[in-house]
Parts: sequence; structure tokens; C-alpha cells
Amino acid sequence: MIESIQSDLLQWFASHARDLPWRRTRDPYAIMVAEIMLQQTQVDRVIPKYHAFLAAFPTLTALAAAPTAEVIRLWAGLGYNRRAINLQRAAQIIVTQHNGQVPDSVAVLRTLPGIGPYTAGAIACFAFEQDVAFLDTNIRRVVQRLCVGADHEATATNADLLAHAAALIPPGQGWTWNQAIMELGALICTASNPACWRCPLRRHCRAYTNALNAEPALLAPVVAPTMKRVAEPRPTEPFVGSRRWYRGRIIAALRALPTGAILPLFELGQQVRADFTADLEPWLQELVRDLERDGLLVVNEQGARLPD
Ligand code: ADE
Repeated sequence: MIESIQSDLLQWFASHARDLPWRRTRDPYAIMVAEIMLQQTQVDRVIPKYHAFLAAFPTLTALAAAPTAEVIRLWAGLGYNRRAINLQRAAQIIVTQHNGQVPDSVAVLRTLPGIGPYTAGAIACFAFEQDVAFLDTNIRRVVQRLCVGADHEATATNADLLAHAAALIPPGQGWTWNQAIMELGALICTASNPACWRCPLRRHCRAYTNALNAEPALLAPVVAPTMKRVAEPRPTEPFVGSRRWYRGRIIAALRALPTGAILPLFELGQQVRADFTADLEPWLQELVRDLERDGLLVVNEQGARLPD
């Protein structure tokens, strides 16, 4: 049974996999860059940034030694700039504490800044071809539906889903399997409109089978309407005008300066919001201090700038 799930998905992947640049390498540094970029950014937006980043910083040592301002500049367009700082710090720690070699152990990878359970597992699997299980949003959704049921029918804990994910991995083929299950989640088993009719795992799928049993009139392979996601928690706060949006605008303003230039805080305020007045100075100072704590900028009496 599990063997047929494995062979059905692997066979589908062999003919449907997208040709993504990070699938063509096992360079642990390149994989680390890709997986950190992919944490919160869509594949299409990551591809050009991945190439540009590796062109600018081709090795871990080059990234570790680069001016932080350059790393922040290269991150433009990806959002969540803190990831750039963490990535460079991780590279510096690897250079000083791990002989310049990206660790191959999930436990050691987890100690690096910006590397959580997902990214540690993805690096161990995609760079070192270890049979490790990890959950990103795609894998989580596929495993939930395949092994547990439709999103609204039954919810499993993280530990349950991880155990299911681990049990599914064909020994020795963790790399291909994890790429394949991610790909199924990205291309077929999507959040709100899964294409069950062309899913290679339909006949094994708990959620799909439950939907057919509930509505036998729906002959396979029609898309099961009850598969559709009810409501996934989405950020309700509008992005424009949010704290994260202003953080991004502050870094964008500093990025636009020539290397080493300092922007007085009042001018920075005027650049990030049209209605800026002296009343908003405490608001700006708090945001700037927070960005400084994150290592994204430096402030002094003259103003703010990107870090060296
Ligand atoms: N998202 C995160 N990692 C990925 C990968 N290796 N391939 C496709 N999408 C991904």
C-alpha cells in the first residue's frame, strides 16, 4: 500500500517536475540560500534573486566576508529582510565554527540563526540527500489530506503530520520524495482548489475517499467539492500601512543611498510617509531602533544607514 503511494508519486514527479535551479545542485551553500529565500517567497520571485545572489556571493566565504549593506541590497524584492541578516550571520558562524562547511546534521543546522525545523530538514535532505522528514505548507497540506482527511474534517497535530511524513519516505529516496511531495502540493494539491481529477495519489487519499463516500454521485475523478479548503487563517491586517510594510520602506529608503551615506531621521520619516511630522518622530525612532536590534541598520546622531 505505502509502496504504491511511493511509486505513484515518484512516477508522476519524474514526468511533471519543474526544472528549478536548486534541484540541479547539491551545493549545501546554494541549497541553504534557496531554502531561506523560499521560506516566505514564491518560487517565481525567488528564481531571479537566487541567481543574482549566488552571482554576487558565489561561496559561503564570500557571503560571510561581504559588507552587510550589500547583502541587504541584494535581498531587495524578497521581503522579510531579517532573513538576509540571519543568512549572513549563519555563513559567518559556519566559517568560524564549522570550518566553512555547512553542517549536515539537522540538530546542528537548527542552532544557526534563521534556520528552523523546516529549513534544517530541507538542507539535510536536499544538500546531503538524507531521508529526513520536514513540513512546509505544501508538504503539510498533502500529508494532512492524504493520511488524515480534508482540512475541515480532522486536524492532526504537527507531530502526527511529521510522523506520517516520515513514514511515507521511501528509504534511500528522501531527496526525490520530498521534492515530489512539495511539487504535488504546489501544482495539484493546492490549498483552495485541488485538482484531484489529475492527482496521482487520488486512489490513496483519505480526503478524496471521504468526499466520494459522502457524495457518491460524484464519480471519480471529478474534483471533490468538499475537498475545498474552508478557511485557512490568513493575516487579516492590511499589509499597506502595517509595521512590516513600514520596516520594508525604511530599508528601501536606505538601500537607495550611495554606499556609506547617512540619512537624517527626519528625512527618512518624510521618505517613508507623506504625512510625516515631528509628532511621528517617536514612532519612527522606535521602528528604527527595532531594525537596528535586528542588525538591518545603524543609527547615530546624524541619522540612519545600512550596516557595513
Ligand atoms: N519550496 C521550498 N523548497 C522548495 C523546493 N526545493 N522546490 C520547490 N519549492 C520549494
